[in-house]
Amino acid sequence: MTAKNYEAWGVLESDYPRKGAVEEQLKFLLRYAILAPSGPNTQPWKFAINGSVISVFADLERSLPHVDPDNRTLFMSVGCAIANLVAAGKHFGFSTSSNYFPRGSENNLAAEVKFEPGGSSMSGGDLFPEITKRHTTKDRYENQMIEISILDDIKKCIDRPGFVLSYLCDKDSKSMMADLVSRAHQIQLAKKEFRQNLGEWLRNNWTGEPDGMPLYTFGVPDAVSLGFPVAFKEFDLSRAVIYRDSGLIHGCSCLGVLTTDQDDRPAWTLCGTLLENLLLKATSYGVSASFFSQPIGLPELRTELESSIGRGHPQLIFSLGRALPMRSTPRRPLEDVILESSS
Ligand SMILES: Cc1cc2nc3c(=O)[nH]c(=O)nc-3n(C[C@H](O)[C@H](O)[C@H](O)COP(=O)(O)O)c2cc1C
Repeated sequence: MTAKNYEAWGVLESDYPRKGAVEEQLKFLLRYAILAPSGPNTQPWKFAINGSVISVFADLERSLPHVDPDNRTLFMSVGCAIANLVAAGKHFGFSTSSNYFPRGSENNLAAEVKFEPGGSSMSGGDLFPEITKRHTTKDRYENQMIEISILDDIKKCIDRPGFVLSYLCDKDSKSMMADLVSRAHQIQLAKKEFRQNLGEWLRNNWTGEPDGMPLYTFGVPDAVSLGFPVAFKEFDLSRAVIYRDSGLIHGCSCLGVLTTDQDDRPAWTLCGTLLENLLLKATSYGVSASFFSQPIGLPELRTELESSIGRGHPQLIFSLGRALPMRSTPRRPLEDVILESSS
């Protein structure tokens, strides 16, 4: 029997209420929105359905002040949920239009997505089947080989002016990035408040919690996972973390850095939407990703990365490779993230 906190992954396309009211259909689409990735699986989103529009809100009560002080990762995560929502809407025959930050960039209303009948599920390629297959790789890659043609196709998902994906595939670039990520870990994991804040979201391998990161995703054995969250909060485990991340950087096929022209909530959110499209496309090729947010969270290292890349505001570093399938991570029940109506 599937534990309650993993039930969301059992969503079945055949349960779509084809003959139901539009609100019922839109509620079903949200079952796919909540499968989006989020740093560190906080699932910082709320939704309200009003007629044919879904309002997507950022849930700032789920922010991590010492890990993600600007809420950059939080808004990117909300953008990932929007991508899933749109992909699901298109798949079930809606045409969609997304209006980002309709009440201004400081409002928590990240987007209003309007659904109208008559869309074609095939326009832009159907990413929907990948939503339930995607997961983040946090342990190691089995195979570095990704054909250039696949990398090129994945890159096409970053298709908005002002948003750029740079690939860094050579050995020297990987060494540069491994060094940057290592320095970020050394700085951040030396701070108790950082460890406490992030440690709140680490879970043992038997977790019944609906959110956070179970340690099996990092390859931590069951017995060790029991004491790990407490140890992580108490001690500076940067050496082990650096060792793992170095493997994911040197052992990947290619690194990607997403940069944007603007550096505000709308840019972060839209960047998240494009990122999730990219991750779904990668999944369709059997390619998975690993993320390295740490250097972006430190202004001095962000600036250093910006000069290495030579453009824009860096928003996320990730690696791509082929990995073994991984058990999914928990999700909150849909009822917990649906608001009665948008106000
Ligand atoms: C914007 C963003 C940033 C992330 N940053 C990191 C990171 O720095 N390190 C990491 O291990 N995982 C990172 N993740 C991955 C999340 O931990 C992962 O999505 C979450 O645990 C849910 O697991 P899943 O993606 O396998 O569904 C990030 C995810 C997003 C969307």
